[in-house]
Amino acid sequence: MHVSMTQRILTGITTSGTPHLGNYVGMLRPAVAASRRDDTDSFFFLADYHALIKCDDPARVARSRLEIAATWLACGLDPARVTFYRQSDIPEIPELTWLLTCVTAKGLLNRAHAYKAAIDQNTAKGEDPDAAITAGLYMYPVLMAADILAFNANKVPVGRDQVQHIEMARDIGQRFNHIYGKAWRTAGGKNEPFALPEAVIDENVATLPGLDGRKMSKSYDNTVPLFEGGAKATREAIAKIITDSREPGEPKDPDSSSLFAIFRAFAGDTESRAFRAELESGMGWGDAKKKLCDRIEQDVAPLRERYDTLMAHPDDIEDALREGAKKARAVALPRLEIMRRAVGLGPLAAAGSKAKAAKKADKRVRLVSFRDSEGFRFRLLGADGEELLLSRAFADPKAAGQASRTLSSEGATEVLKPIDASRFVFIQDGEILATSAEFTKLAARDAALERTRAALVSLRETTE
Ligand code: TRP
Repeated sequence: MHVSMTQRILTGITTSGTPHLGNYVGMLRPAVAASRRDDTDSFFFLADYHALIKCDDPARVARSRLEIAATWLACGLDPARVTFYRQSDIPEIPELTWLLTCVTAKGLLNRAHAYKAAIDQNTAKGEDPDAAITAGLYMYPVLMAADILAFNANKVPVGRDQVQHIEMARDIGQRFNHIYGKAWRTAGGKNEPFALPEAVIDENVATLPGLDGRKMSKSYDNTVPLFEGGAKATREAIAKIITDSREPGEPKDPDSSSLFAIFRAFAGDTESRAFRAELESGMGWGDAKKKLCDRIEQDVAPLRERYDTLMAHPDDIEDALREGAKKARAVALPRLEIMRRAVGLGPLAAAGSKAKAAKKADKRVRLVSFRDSEGFRFRLLGADGEELLLSRAFADPKAAGQASRTLSSEGATEVLKPIDASRFVFIQDGEILATSAEFTKLAARDAALERTRAALVSLRETTE
């Protein structure tokens, strides 16, 4: 096993929202840390094609791309070290999406959680099951598979809600490997077209609860913004964290509110223990919220400063993304080039020469057995496909096989004899086993007899 082998890690963020603390703790922070390790080759991208599935507000998508790109960089992503790009800058991704679409079972997509949930919602409302469901939502898992498979990624860090999508990417990749693996190698590819990706769920990274205690998520409207709106927005959101009505002085249960869980996602063990003790000995919720704000700010303020600078210079971000797209395409383009040929979409000239080569390979004498209404037969075909001899019908396939073996064995040239002016035969122990075609001229018959003798010699050479 190559334990030290570099793993390609790949993950994307859909550009339809504004990054919040849950994204930072659950995804950005661990991803940036992992990208600093020497044994990883990280690919991080803005899933902006995916955004169109969720959001048809162009201003929102455009703004989110900028915010998310600036966030990655502000969080310490080093674009010189990783491959950082935009999905929509890589034409190989939609191209691969189509190739994968054509090997993806429709039934697989029918089982996708997000699609099923949308159907269930419609059904519950008494509407048509497919009401307002786009083909984009349905195809979401295939586009995501292309994101991953285009780069042969091994590990895909994602949230639990995305695990099914990674499994689907494996299924789809496996199917493609099965159908086109051989053609891929013939077209010059190594191993299999696709490495099969694995989801990585970091057990050490707790899912951050939101203001109401449920998972922090844009769809629950319970988030604390990461950078947008400044420290003020963070403070205002924290103030909305739901707590119980215990007064200052009364002991608090640190685990009954999101407050302590969010604190712990930033602070170390010692600090967290001290905070817990303060809550248990009666610190007021107002003071606790102030402490939480300060603790978050300690980590986030320096990053926010970088973020604000980046947001003021979108051209610099654009440059970084274009450089990233070049790096990403340097991987995807040659792969797609082979893949196109593997599925039969290469240049016509290559197909022509391949067909010729295939014909050439077939340019050899063959004994072909077959069955017709009268019984089992075989025929001797010349290198150019000419039928030189056709056997009589045998009731028993074994007898036919025996006779064809005799024909291809040593000395068979002696058993080829003219039988009349127009034909010659293959005769053994006085029995005619096979007959030539009919020739109108003697010279033609004899020329064919010579060709048949030569064919039998070459047949022995190729079978021995
Ligand atoms: N679907 C992911 C999400 O919404 C984003 C995404 C798109 C992604 N393509 C990907 C994640 C490929 C990992 C790998 O969270």
